[in-house]
Amino acid sequence: MTTYDEVYRSWQDDPETFWMTAAEGIDWITKPTRALDDSAAPMYRWFADAECNTCWNAVDRHVEGGRADQTAVIYDSPITGTQRKISYGELKDLVANFAGGLAAKGVGKGDRVIIYMPMIPEALIAMLACARIGAIHSVVFGGFAANELAVRIDDATPKAIVAASCGIEPGRVIAYKPLLDEAMERASHKVDFTVIHQREEEPADLVAGRDYDWAELAAEASPADCVTVGGMDPLYILYTSGTTGQPKGVVRPNAGHMVALHWTMKNIYGVDPGDVYWAASDVGWVVGHSYIVYAPLLCGSTTIMFEGKPVGTPDAGTFWRVISEHNVKALFTAPTAFRAIKREDPSGEFVKKYDMSCLDTLFLAGERADPDTIEWAQDHLGVPVIDHWWQTETGWAIAANPVGIELMPVKLGSPTVPMPGYDVRILDDGGHEVAAGELGAIAIKLPLPPGTLPTLWHADERYVSSYLKTFDGYYETGDAGMKDEDGYVYIMARTDDVINVAGHRLSTGGMEEVLSGHPDVAECAVIGVADQLKGQLPMGFVCLNAGCDRSTDDIERELVLRVREQIGPVAAFKLVAVVQRLPKTRSGKILRGTMAHIADGTEWKMPATIDDPVILDEITVSLKGLGYAQDA
Ligand code: COA
Ligand code: AMP
Repeated sequence: MTTYDEVYRSWQDDPETFWMTAAEGIDWITKPTRALDDSAAPMYRWFADAECNTCWNAVDRHVEGGRADQTAVIYDSPITGTQRKISYGELKDLVANFAGGLAAKGVGKGDRVIIYMPMIPEALIAMLACARIGAIHSVVFGGFAANELAVRIDDATPKAIVAASCGIEPGRVIAYKPLLDEAMERASHKVDFTVIHQREEEPADLVAGRDYDWAELAAEASPADCVTVGGMDPLYILYTSGTTGQPKGVVRPNAGHMVALHWTMKNIYGVDPGDVYWAASDVGWVVGHSYIVYAPLLCGSTTIMFEGKPVGTPDAGTFWRVISEHNVKALFTAPTAFRAIKREDPSGEFVKKYDMSCLDTLFLAGERADPDTIEWAQDHLGVPVIDHWWQTETGWAIAANPVGIELMPVKLGSPTVPMPGYDVRILDDGGHEVAAGELGAIAIKLPLPPGTLPTLWHADERYVSSYLKTFDGYYETGDAGMKDEDGYVYIMARTDDVINVAGHRLSTGGMEEVLSGHPDVAECAVIGVADQLKGQLPMGFVCLNAGCDRSTDDIERELVLRVREQIGPVAAFKLVAVVQRLPKTRSGKILRGTMAHIADGTEWKMPATIDDPVILDEITVSLKGLGYAQDA
């Protein structure tokens, strides 16, 4: 098949055959007899009667199949000045050994293991080691604070935590162990043990009998074999922001995940075994799970673990160096990374210093790709720039330009067309489809394809109420947008309180919970305002308790610190103003959307139900004080 239309239609005509054919790309211990089990709809199960092991498919089978000497992982760390190449053969030994170490300490099938690590190969090794022994990993991004880690410990109730002694950000070393200790102290659930990978930049103090040194554990261990897991057994849980401070534990089962990701490497990314693929993200996010770790390895290609930033490590040419030095065929990153590079090097001087003839395609996702950024990348790299749209929940692209099948015409502002498996519909409030070109809620007709979430960790009801309740028979994406006459999808905004800061998904509701916890705060609102570099930034407004006469400067400083300490630096919460009142409807709903429009200087209408319009003037003054609402 040569066209997208043909491939998409073949899925529409016979989804069962489509996915059973895709499943042939995977080594099964027991082959699935069917793809979809819809007997418990709307809880769907894919490849439920299969038996398999994800680590086998990502590592061992390539060793058996003649790729033992091929590089599996390239660790490139400009921030520490180190590089390391790991072949598939070495990776198998490292993973099997570490898996043996975990197993010897009692970790087995179905046990959870939290991984709290920076972008070092040990993070990938720990993930694969869990997969090998059937343990369920849950990676927590290093930029989250101890409190967020504690919330995840209590939800996932892990037997063990694997961490590094420190992470490294430009200009500072972040000791992880004190954060980990604080999180374990705060959590009600107590883990049996931790394993700490000691980094020379800042080794950690270990508590005897509870904290084990990674190197010692691995040295004493005997290698573990791949265990047999069921197709629907979870490979991992990945927490993502919802509408409250309680994150959602997205569950990813083994079989559907392998089938779908394996299919995407060739068909969406145009990547073959042996090619070098680079997702410049972090293992703490879904992009890192799917496209730093699992998909490239399932495919037998080479993946890059990059520990650095697009700028400042050491300069805006870092990405181009990595591409040319390691022969990268496809790069995947968030638009914010390109905005950062473009800001430092608008005329692309650094691009000219490197031979990047190896690069075929640039893929962008994680947030809206603004046309300026796409055009800059196209002009300077001279390759197709492909925007694609997906979510932690789906694990792979809902809409993309499938370059491995056919490079479709790029329309700026659109992540192109729905991928096989996704029946994307634009619905009005009543759940009826709207016409082409009209805005609505973006929903996906059930069932979702393999690889997507079947539920939330130990929270079936929350899964149903969060995603399946609004539109009967559909998954609600939380995004609003439209489709044009050619079926191209456009993503315009979120319909909930999620904001996207430098490609990182955050909940303003979660931040409001933190602000409300301040003893002087009576009520508050957090909105997302437009930012040229990060796409969006959070901004808070707080009203103080009656009688509070403390300095507002002090309170604002405390609030910024509070979000940093309770959610983490990644929230980038730095804008906050104390105000007398918050604008509300007569029924008491805070007008967050209106405030965001005023801040961004975009068009807005006075809501008919506003309680007291004068409050908006006060808010505008505060916004101007923060450097916003300039055009309002
Ligand atoms: N551990 C600890 N702290 C971290 C961290 C980590 N793993 N990652 C980020 N932080 C900290 C940063 O040091 C920064 O702290 P600061 O407020 O003291 O400066 C804060 O969290 C915000 O980080 P970030 O959003 O990364 O902003 P930045 O200004 O450091 O860098 C970019 C901006 C655009 C260069 C950066 O966001 C980037 O490279 N993005 C690439 C896109 C990406 O990886 N997206 C993921 C999904 S695909
Ligand atoms: P995450 O779960 O962190 O991957 O965030 C998913 C959300 O990021 C989506 O629901 C969108 O709101 C946004 N997003 C991801 N990719 C795109 C894209 N290509 N264009 C616009 N928004 C995107």
